[in-house]
Amino acid sequence: MTSATQTDTMSIGRHLLGLEDLSAEQIVAILDRAESYRRRMENGGGRLDDLNGVVVANLFFEPSTRTRTSFSLAARRIGADTVDFSAGGSSLSKGETFVDTALTIEAMGVDLVVCRHRTPGAPHLLARHLQAGVLNAGDGTHEHPTQALLDMLTIRQRRDIAGLRVALVGDIRHSRVARSNIHGLKKLGADVVVCGPATLIPRSITQMGVEIAHDLDEILPEVDCVNLLRVQFERQRGAFFPSIEEYAHLFGMTAERVRRARDGLLVLAPGPINRGVELTPEVADGPNSLILSQVTNGLYVRMACLSMLAQQRRQTAARREQPA
Ligand code: NCD
Repeated sequence: MTSATQTDTMSIGRHLLGLEDLSAEQIVAILDRAESYRRRMENGGGRLDDLNGVVVANLFFEPSTRTRTSFSLAARRIGADTVDFSAGGSSLSKGETFVDTALTIEAMGVDLVVCRHRTPGAPHLLARHLQAGVLNAGDGTHEHPTQALLDMLTIRQRRDIAGLRVALVGDIRHSRVARSNIHGLKKLGADVVVCGPATLIPRSITQMGVEIAHDLDEILPEVDCVNLLRVQFERQRGAFFPSIEEYAHLFGMTAERVRRARDGLLVLAPGPINRGVELTPEVADGPNSLILSQVTNGLYVRMACLSMLAQQRRQTAARREQPA
């Protein structure tokens, strides 16, 4: 086990682009720092000043409610200034390129850029062009690292992740949350099974070291945690299953299914949730549901990521200023 002081000084690099790039130790360091933010906030921390003088820009090129709000609030609660930018109503509609828009915003003195984009690799492109640190807030179907980190923090507050059996249920094909969860959970030693209709699970996913299942009722008695992923209708071209009713019947989490699962089954959902599709209202609001705890943990995880990247920038700047 790495001690708290060791993880305190751990670097996660200049950018946070995906969990694929991080080691288990770096992931643990982020979760430990998030936990320490939780304690500080719960002890009446109010607004902290760790990021005084740091400017965080939110560049969201795709709809988002919770991730955007969560990043903004997290940045402000630890003392940063924030600027919000969304694709609609910007110069993008006047033909400016994505990178030029980002460079313009950076020239206003931005230190960290939070980017969501429908194209996989968009934040990576920014990272190559900007001096600022880039945080990926979801790039197409590729990765959504802070969502997976907050899912893992929520699990880790209740169980050891090593040895845990976690089912990711639903639209695996289109889910960046699934991909980031798989990278993170596997690195921390969990067993991961992905479960959904055959059309929504690419066979190649087994290369990531996960098992595939198509029958939720069969795997339920063996899992400790289910993460219910939304069916990403906006990313689907064509019909992947006959009807929503059929999907809900086969893969929706109902109170009856919770009863047949292991005691203390952890039920996660990244949201936005479709009540009656991925889960019934009874389960969403029931004792096994950790949905609201995930939202709260999202703040702490984002505070942790922002502060680790800001710390990295301070260290790099200090090294540059030192006479050779
Ligand atoms: C997720 C996303 O955007 O990838 N939601 C989120 O970040 N709050 C999952 C989803 O859209 O289903």
